[in-house]
Amino acid sequence: MSAAPHKPLVFSGMQPTNTLHLGNYLGALKNWVRLQETMDCLYCVVDMHAITVEQDPKALAAATREVTAAYVASGVNPTHAILFNQSAVHEHAELAWIFNCVARMGWLGRMTQFKEKAGKHRENASVGLFVYPNLMAADILAYKATHVPVGEDQKQHLELARDIAQKFNNDFDVPGFFPLPEPVITGPATRVMSLRDGTKKMSKSEDSDYSRINLTDDADSIAQKIRKARTDPAPLPDSEKDLEGRPEAENLVNIYAALSDTPRDAVIAQFGGRQFSEFKAELADLAVSKLTP
Ligand code: TYM
Repeated sequence: MSAAPHKPLVFSGMQPTNTLHLGNYLGALKNWVRLQETMDCLYCVVDMHAITVEQDPKALAAATREVTAAYVASGVNPTHAILFNQSAVHEHAELAWIFNCVARMGWLGRMTQFKEKAGKHRENASVGLFVYPNLMAADILAYKATHVPVGEDQKQHLELARDIAQKFNNDFDVPGFFPLPEPVITGPATRVMSLRDGTKKMSKSEDSDYSRINLTDDADSIAQKIRKARTDPAPLPDSEKDLEGRPEAENLVNIYAALSDTPRDAVIAQFGGRQFSEFKAELADLAVSKLTP
């Protein structure tokens, strides 16, 4: 017996911790907005994921509303997509428990995000932080969602969600009961890097605020952060290949391409050979015009 094919359905979510940044916007939100035009979409604020590390409950409630506002400000349209808060739907936690019993310790032990977040204090990390990818699989599979637009850092978690779906279908002899959700990781900026260090991901948890552009930054701070972004002394290269080994240059080119909706080679053709000071001035104008509204 094989089940009918699953109806295409999009699911994605973000944690309500601090404010959202340019990586969240270019890696995920921009694709959410595009997908809502043609597909059924569910977009969630995943507050239960946030409590895998310590949170102040009042601040978490406020951040949940703020992230919801950021979704809408970025173009998520609540009349096209369903917007909701994870903890308001108890089925996420219920299905996560079942998946805790399907997923294997070894699978979770391989998750690089757990290793990074738990770091040297593994023994002291919450159990929730360890089984977090099971809750993420439950978020998606509770709705039998088929497409999941995320940034590149979530790829491994999505592979785990597929493994869980597959194992559940096999173990209980229900072929096709859960779909194997497809990651949607597209665009020139699936991994936006820190403005201070082109080898590190732009992240909410990085100490320096100069490492990231927050979606709530005003025009002056956006421009200043771009002006101060770390670069190397050479001018911009003439070919995409020459971006190799120049992570800061590559990151700024990717950001320009994603914000302007132009392919990377067109950005190189326009700015190749020019100094960073000129490129940064144009990038700052572009970022301000796209982000301040
Ligand atoms: P979170 O809250 O860390 O990030 C939200 C989204 O932003 C993307 N992202 C980035 N993309 C490009 N460059 C960056 N520097 C960058 N930083 C973050 C993330 O890939 C993500 O798409 N576990 C998830 C939330 C989650 C989820 C889900 C996602 C929970 N359940 C179900 C999809 C489906 C997380 O912590 O994302």
